[in-house]
Amino acid sequence: MSANAATPDTATNVAQLLAKMTIEEKIGQMTQVDFTVIGVAPENVNAVRGEIDPAKLDDAVLKHHVGSILNTPFTPNNQAQPVEIWRNMQQIIQATAAKSRLKIPVLYGIDAIHGATYTQNSTLFPQAISMAATFNPDLSFKAGEITAREIRASGLQWNFSPVMDIGRQPLWPRLWETYGEDVHLATIMGTRFIQGHQGTDFSAADKGLTCLKHYVGYSFPFNGKDRTPAYISERMLREIFLPSFAAGVKAGAPTVMINSAEVDGIPGHANYHYLTTILRDELGFKGFTLSDWEDIKRLYTRDKVAASEKDAVKIAVMAGVDMSMVPFDFSFYDNLLALVKSGDVPMARIDEAVGRILTVKFQAGLFDAPKAPLPIAENFATPYATATNLQAARESIVLAKNQEHILPLKKAANILVTGPTANLLSVMNGGWTITWQGDAEALYPKDKLTLLGALQQQSTGKISYVGGNRFDDAIDIAKVVAAAKEHDYIVLSLGENTYTETKGNIASLALDKSQQALADAVFATGKPVILVTFGGRPRIITSIAEKASAVLLGFLPGMEGGLAMADILYGDYNPDAKLPITYPRDTNDIVLYDYKSMESFEDNTYNPLYPFGHGLSYTTFETRHLQLDKSHVGFYDDVKVSVDVSNTGSIAGKETVLVYLHDAVASVSRPNKQLKAFQKVALAPGETKHLSFTLTHDDLSFIGVDLKRIVESGDFIVMVGEERVTFNVN
Ligand code: BGC
Repeated sequence: MSANAATPDTATNVAQLLAKMTIEEKIGQMTQVDFTVIGVAPENVNAVRGEIDPAKLDDAVLKHHVGSILNTPFTPNNQAQPVEIWRNMQQIIQATAAKSRLKIPVLYGIDAIHGATYTQNSTLFPQAISMAATFNPDLSFKAGEITAREIRASGLQWNFSPVMDIGRQPLWPRLWETYGEDVHLATIMGTRFIQGHQGTDFSAADKGLTCLKHYVGYSFPFNGKDRTPAYISERMLREIFLPSFAAGVKAGAPTVMINSAEVDGIPGHANYHYLTTILRDELGFKGFTLSDWEDIKRLYTRDKVAASEKDAVKIAVMAGVDMSMVPFDFSFYDNLLALVKSGDVPMARIDEAVGRILTVKFQAGLFDAPKAPLPIAENFATPYATATNLQAARESIVLAKNQEHILPLKKAANILVTGPTANLLSVMNGGWTITWQGDAEALYPKDKLTLLGALQQQSTGKISYVGGNRFDDAIDIAKVVAAAKEHDYIVLSLGENTYTETKGNIASLALDKSQQALADAVFATGKPVILVTFGGRPRIITSIAEKASAVLLGFLPGMEGGLAMADILYGDYNPDAKLPITYPRDTNDIVLYDYKSMESFEDNTYNPLYPFGHGLSYTTFETRHLQLDKSHVGFYDDVKVSVDVSNTGSIAGKETVLVYLHDAVASVSRPNKQLKAFQKVALAPGETKHLSFTLTHDDLSFIGVDLKRIVESGDFIVMVGEERVTFNVN
């Protein structure tokens, strides 16, 4: 339980404040607008950075009483601002709020999803999919700590992160914003991020509020496109998509952002069952819910579950939306005011929503005497933060293939580097980097290294590059082939350009033809090829990976990704990441690791290019002596699992031991295996460590026929490495 639990004092403060508020002031608190609503129109600004228009700010904060503002100033690229500009903007906004009748501070929200996205030169970590590949919860904790520090140094306090959606649809353009396909891994990584970001008290000067998003079922669009329908049964919801949010609520996240799309025909913002019955009554969430971008209006403009914008407001508020990310006008405010006055929305519901918002504002310390923002030098992009980021990047890169130990390469090797992702920082960072789409390469820091830059810096041999300056630049294949002759190896860097949300929709996971053609030409040279990939989704690389001597899957390793990749190529770092998703062999072969028996029955198979949990090292590991403390277990007993893990090779490295469980017979068909515990350990050559894990009642449970979580008697099989041990529950 966090120290931010509502105390009797907070409850009294909130009740006293509510009693003084007019309806208008209350409804204003439920309104969140974009920076453009208070910013000088972009055409009036000659500099790249946005400025606040005092008249517009007065209109929003003093006349419309808005409770919250979001986003970066609207400049030509909606781009990151210098840290000092952010601090100044926040001071101006709070100074205006302090002039209001009740002096209720504004809560400013930002998408700092892999570090302080919108503050220039911040520490930008591997994206969530890559953080998950580290299988290192301590790194997630540290990323949370550093991100909170850097947004606080920027005068900001509320982060629309972490994404607690489970990534089980590889086409979805936000897959990389998730911690992958497994419920347990995502739950642990997300919760540790929250703990690092909030500490035990998110009002502390170096801590910030988190926001669980996008509640719930957003990540599983049937057609793979962003903001399109999911069909999730109540059982699947409770088994796959809800547990990470439940854990986030338990970890003390004070805010929840709502699914922008729909599940089983009910838009997220109209779903009383999810927003109220489950979130409040079952999960016990006490904070406030926030709509996603314009999504209340869309109940009318897009989904047609509402007959008008006003009707949409009523439906959303009555379903359980507490704050509306409107975001460009005061329509929500006007409509809700009219609905309350006409009695269509009861005052009690308004008091409930506003009470929750004010409670979070008190808990965040916003009503306390204003604190000076954190000193920049000690808190922003420090050497410690950069070193932590580099370590996270190193631990996130998956060595998927290493034929005949071709890697690591000697520094004296002559290497030809080619491919659309070899010389760009953007492709290693993805969306929400400096700009929303992350594609403004020219704005990226000049002191960070691309893969090419890092190889050039570290090599003592010859490094040549044949490629473009932008992702889409045509690469001169004849030149690549000619240059290959003078080099020992070819590093072929393929993948995706940056994107997020609907702009990243694709029709196929296949790589584009130009990348395939480049790969074909490169293999025809006969030189050994090392395939490197960057990008947010598992694009199909099967035929290329089969011919390549080595394969390194980079996903989105962040600002230190180039350096980390070079460290691994040269053996300065021994790779230790594992896949947090199943890497498909073909576009339509989407079978996840926790498949059901019928998915590997008769002609069906789980036959991915690389399975979930796959990842090689330059050394070798072995797990042995898998043991349980008992073979007969009562329903509520814990089971202790122990295993020895050894480094059987000749260099130091880290191994993640994965503990899977299978329920042998059950009244609802069970996955062939599910990850229940994991631990990453460092081992010197020849060293063995004895590891212990605990399986609890909850680990044995599933959602039964009547949709309640149950444990059934019978055999359970624990699997670690090559070993399996059975225990019986009765
Ligand atoms: C995204 C959210 C984000 C919000 C605010 C929406 O379009 O779906 O993830 O937090 O914008 O920028």
